[in-house]
Amino acid sequence: MGCCNRLQWWQEARYGMFIHWGVYSIPARGEWVMFHEHIPPQEYAPLAKKFNPRRFNADEWVELAKSAGMKYMVLTTRHHDGFSLFDSQVSDFTAPKTAAGRDLVREYVEACHRGGIRVGFYYSLLDWRYPAYFRGPAADPEGWKALVDYVHAQVRELMSNYGKIDILWYDGGWPYTAQDWRSEELNAMVRQLQPAILINNRSQLPEDFDTPEQQVRASERPWETCLTLNDSWGYNAADDNWKTPQQVIKLLVRCASGGGNLLLNVGPRPDGSIPRQSVSTLRRVGRWLDENGGAIYGTGRSPFGGASIGMTTLKGNTLYLHVLRWPGRELTFPRILNKVRSVHLLKSGKPVEFTQKSDRLMLKGLPRRAPDRLDTVLVVELEGEPQVLDYFASPDYFADWTPPAQVAAVAEQPTIEPPAASEDEPAATIESESGADSGADSGAEGDTDSEEAAPSETAAQ
Ligand code: GLC
Repeated sequence: MGCCNRLQWWQEARYGMFIHWGVYSIPARGEWVMFHEHIPPQEYAPLAKKFNPRRFNADEWVELAKSAGMKYMVLTTRHHDGFSLFDSQVSDFTAPKTAAGRDLVREYVEACHRGGIRVGFYYSLLDWRYPAYFRGPAADPEGWKALVDYVHAQVRELMSNYGKIDILWYDGGWPYTAQDWRSEELNAMVRQLQPAILINNRSQLPEDFDTPEQQVRASERPWETCLTLNDSWGYNAADDNWKTPQQVIKLLVRCASGGGNLLLNVGPRPDGSIPRQSVSTLRRVGRWLDENGGAIYGTGRSPFGGASIGMTTLKGNTLYLHVLRWPGRELTFPRILNKVRSVHLLKSGKPVEFTQKSDRLMLKGLPRRAPDRLDTVLVVELEGEPQVLDYFASPDYFADWTPPAQVAAVAEQPTIEPPAASEDEPAATIESESGADSGADSGAEGDTDSEEAAPSETAAQ
């Protein structure tokens, strides 16, 4: 099967759930607690005796992901601390062999299959319990071989024992090479066992897709940004820095607009429950997606980029304007060279009056206040292949411009009206509102702090 067929469902999906869960949820200081607090394995191991997630119900996770509008899930089957949520012949530090007494990965996979949502496995190549990981293959060839053999054996188990798996999401290859991990051999085995699987780029081989982390950064290859909902992947009781539903929507739109996916993380508590703030934000975004999903799912990279009002996504000849800053009754969007067939509000289907002046699409008679304060989507039907005006490559477009010296002589200049104040417009929820980037090709570094900048095209990772 060619690469692109395998990727099609994933590229249409646009939005998935990442889940970081393991014994580290007990100390509740994130999944790096073992490393950050330099806890020796013998002191860390007893956590497994307490890890008994009585309230874990995989069907509830699946229900949450689906109601959030997410189309796939990726669970940490084993993170850097070495604790496997699944049954393994090559490790005793696993959920089934300790207090939980359950194969949590099996429950998760079965729930996903039942719920009809795509299943992904996160798997960390590194395991901090192995001194060879720190010593490296050169200094400790035997220890290294034991580590790599164990990793290959676990990946084989994951690929053989749980039916169809859609995504293998490696992590933790650093600072070693694909040769060190024998990644080519490993991934050949994976593809033999799971022919349709998608593999990320973290086994130190590019494979199917790039994985920019905590930033939206487009690459030419298929890509997926992974993000936390607060500032932590694993459950962190002290981290209260939650993103708002509007921030999540903006990030999702930025990913879709750059042709990428968003993998948004939750960090369940030791008992398997997902923090309330995460649940309510996910459900709120899900309600927005119920009504506006057409402007996200199945969209591709939009060459129209963003403008003062927000961002765009594109599907065929249909351009979606995501109006994140509602300007009032009138709205102008630039750089459209196509004839516009029609404009309507996505949610209500109501047609919108418009005119085209050169490349500028001018809308009139809009509601004074944003119909959806999170993101109101306007649907613009274009005639023919989307064509974007590139200011720098189209000198003819400026033929009728009045040069500065003559402008001074013009008596009456049109004034630009400020928008009507809107009472229910929320206070700015994130970052500065001044960072809007009107040029899709500006190549601005697309981190999460400048939400409307077009994602740049530097390679991820
Ligand atoms: C990093 C971290 C990790 C997290 C992951 C998610 O590589 O080591 O804890 O799982 O990124 O992308």
